[in-house]
Amino acid sequence: MSKRGEGIALIGFMGSGKSTIGPRLAKRRDQLCHDTDEMIATRHGISIVEIFAQRGEEAFREAETEMLRSLPAQPSVIATGGGIVLREMNVAMLRARGAIVHLTADEETLFERTTRGERRPLLQTSDPRRTFIELLLQRGSLYHEAADLTIDTSRLRPDEVVARILEEIELLAC
Ligand code: S3P
Repeated sequence: MSKRGEGIALIGFMGSGKSTIGPRLAKRRDQLCHDTDEMIATRHGISIVEIFAQRGEEAFREAETEMLRSLPAQPSVIATGGGIVLREMNVAMLRARGAIVHLTADEETLFERTTRGERRPLLQTSDPRRTFIELLLQRGSLYHEAADLTIDTSRLRPDEVVARILEEIELLAC
């Protein structure tokens, strides 16, 4: 088996807390945090919503893969977009960089979090709740297969999530 890096990738559905936890976790690890959505928006000079609207989902997926390819080699925490697991090559790149942590939460919590704050282009449909449930069902096994460990964030504060990740990563290394 090829050697895995010292980084951590956070994967999980929209609203699972990846972008909130990423910078906090990176600080505790003394690493940089790379948030793929933020980096794509910066690189392309437009928001994720605009990329979906003007160029389509496939262009966004290409940008995601390209972003992973172009990450600096040193270990970092990567906060990914919820669809990163749709491409096997993305998962392979994350795996090579280190541990893959799946953040999850119960359906109600995830939905509530996705409907506040930043707009989710995939949920701009006539029935967002239905779309949300369909995507959750389609993605469940992909997150599960990619992950080294899964953490339910529903009832944890961000600092508790970070502490749990650090504990469990230690155990993985044993
Ligand atoms: C997506 C999730 C979003 C963003 C894009 C697509 C998805 O990120 O990458 O809207 O396919 O689930 P978050 O998981 O941070 O919401």
